Amino acid sequence: MTRKRLPGDEAHHLRVADPAALPDEMQDEKHLRPQLLGEFVGQPQVCGQLGIFLEAAKRREEAMDHVLFHGPPGLGKTTLAQIIAHELGVEITHTSGPVIERPGDLAGLLTSLGPRGILFVDEIHRLSPVVEEYLYSALEDFTLDVLLDRGPSARSLKLNLEPFTLVGATTRSGLLSAPMRARFGVTLRMDFYVADDLAHIVARSAGILETRITPEAAYEIARRSRGTPRVANRLLRRVRDFALIKADGDITMPVTRQALSLLEVDERGLDEMDRRMLEALIDRYDGGPVGLNSLAVVIGEEASTLEDVYEPFLVQEGFMRRTARGREATKLAYTHLNRAVPATLSARSRGEGVVAERPELPLE
Ligand SMILES: Nc1ncnc2c1ncn2[C@@H]1O[C@H](COP(=O)(O)OP(=O)(O)OP(=O)(O)O)[C@@H](O)[C@H]1O
Ligand SMILES: [Mg+2]
Repeated sequence: MTRKRLPGDEAHHLRVADPAALPDEMQDEKHLRPQLLGEFVGQPQVCGQLGIFLEAAKRREEAMDHVLFHGPPGLGKTTLAQIIAHELGVEITHTSGPVIERPGDLAGLLTSLGPRGILFVDEIHRLSPVVEEYLYSALEDFTLDVLLDRGPSARSLKLNLEPFTLVGATTRSGLLSAPMRARFGVTLRMDFYVADDLAHIVARSAGILETRITPEAAYEIARRSRGTPRVANRLLRRVRDFALIKADGDITMPVTRQALSLLEVDERGLDEMDRRMLEALIDRYDGGPVGLNSLAVVIGEEASTLEDVYEPFLVQEGFMRRTARGREATKLAYTHLNRAVPATLSARSRGEGVVAERPELPLE
């Protein structure tokens, strides 16, 4: 699928595959979000554990232990935080690491939580060290040292807080400090979804959006959604628009295929940027290994975007490997891009006997 690149294309393609939420999606996400654990599809390990902790907290009538969710964007971390609050019938206050600038901001948040309330801190790896330090005593024994006055008359007062639950979320657990990590009683890792679960999510969302969709079409959208519910919902909305304009509004298999091809989402769910990354690796670096920064320069994209957004999925799907010497293309990448597989490709980088690496590795 080669076509002349037009100005603004980058933004267009990034929007299709980007697992991060787009500004215009925020509203839709709200009503597509499941409210109860029973409505949350997939992530059986995470849900299984969470179900037990929720039940225990309910029976003991205590605040639940602090929970950390980590994993790639768009997999349901915020959704689960809200589900916890909903299931426990407590209030939840949303904030994020970079927003809490001073200890005073944190004190304000913690003192205004409702009984057994939940403080949800997104991007928790981005808390400033001084705020993080201040949070430790709050997490351990629900106290805060408040500084009264400044200068010579400064005194500090120990403030007792109501028991609360901190729910932290991060896409970069490797950047979380060890003391912070140790303060979570429960750490839950979110993984990419299997197509069956995503198909379920697509069908459910279509129901909420009052759109008819065939099971085959739901599955087709699912398997091209990078294992990510946010992307699945986004593709569903785009296909729905297409169905409305080009067909009678119902989402069928032919409509889905056409719409996805227009969006340049290929058979395996790769988009333009994924393909450019693999092409650069193969055509410019003979399949690698090559450092991420060099690859980023060739593609004209931020290394951190490649690492957070594109690479986890390419690695998980077996198109690319991360090695100590850099990134390598696998045999699958060659065949997917219709390139002859070089005889020199080592058995390892051909993907034989290679178990997909953990998709999320800390930034070195
Ligand atoms: N298991 C699920 N079942 C149904 N819908 C889901 C599920 N997980 C996520 N979603 C949908 O995907 C969207 C993104 O989920 P969410 O915002 O919770 O992701 P996130 O992990 O917090 O992402 P980020 O890292 O960008 O903050 C939500 O609108 C929600 O509707
Ligand atoms: Mg979130």
